[in-house]
Amino acid sequence: MRGRGMGWRVRIMLAMSAVAMAGDALAAPLPPALQQAVSRGAHIFKDDSFGSHVKPVPDAASAFATLGGSPHAGPRFLTCSACHIHGGLTRGLLPDGRRIASLRNAAAVFPRYNAKSHRIMTLEAQIRHCVRDGIVGRPPAYGGSTMVDLVSYLKSIAAGQPIAIGGPVH
Ligand code: HEC
Repeated sequence: MRGRGMGWRVRIMLAMSAVAMAGDALAAPLPPALQQAVSRGAHIFKDDSFGSHVKPVPDAASAFATLGGSPHAGPRFLTCSACHIHGGLTRGLLPDGRRIASLRNAAAVFPRYNAKSHRIMTLEAQIRHCVRDGIVGRPPAYGGSTMVDLVSYLKSIAAGQPIAIGGPVH
């Protein structure tokens, strides 16, 4: 009887420590303010045209609709998600039909060296480049709330990706 009782206690203790270990392995929930920055970033990514007046070309707009966007309810002018479809979670699609890498691990591989411009590109510099040349809008300021929100969003989708400075995007 006694031995059996001990057995149960040991088993319960083992089960409890297994639960504790599984808990450690999971990411802790984000503090609410940071979670809100991530959500605002996702929203900006999908809807903000940064003052641009460039419309997605019809082909891109219909591809955008087919692939999960909603050009009617959604943005009238270019946004991040016009090229980086599905919130950047899948491979992107340029207006000319060219496929580009997803943004899954982007936040884990910047800074990267850009041989063409002889510059080290930080994630923030890349975002500004995409707004200036991709969206043809006003780039968000370094350290401004729009930049903070976009970086928070891109970091959140890269959770669990190996940090690899300068590494390839996939
Ligand atoms: C008109 C298409 C287009 C739009 C709109 C666009 N991008 Fe990009 N983006 C690209 C292309 C093309 C690349 C690949 C690298 C390059 O050529 O600059 C890229 C690369 C990136 C990268 C680096 C990952 C990689 O594959 O090199 C990030 C991060 C990124 N974009 C974020 C954004 C964000 C955030 C926005 C919105 C503010 C945005 N992009 C809007 C076309 C676009």
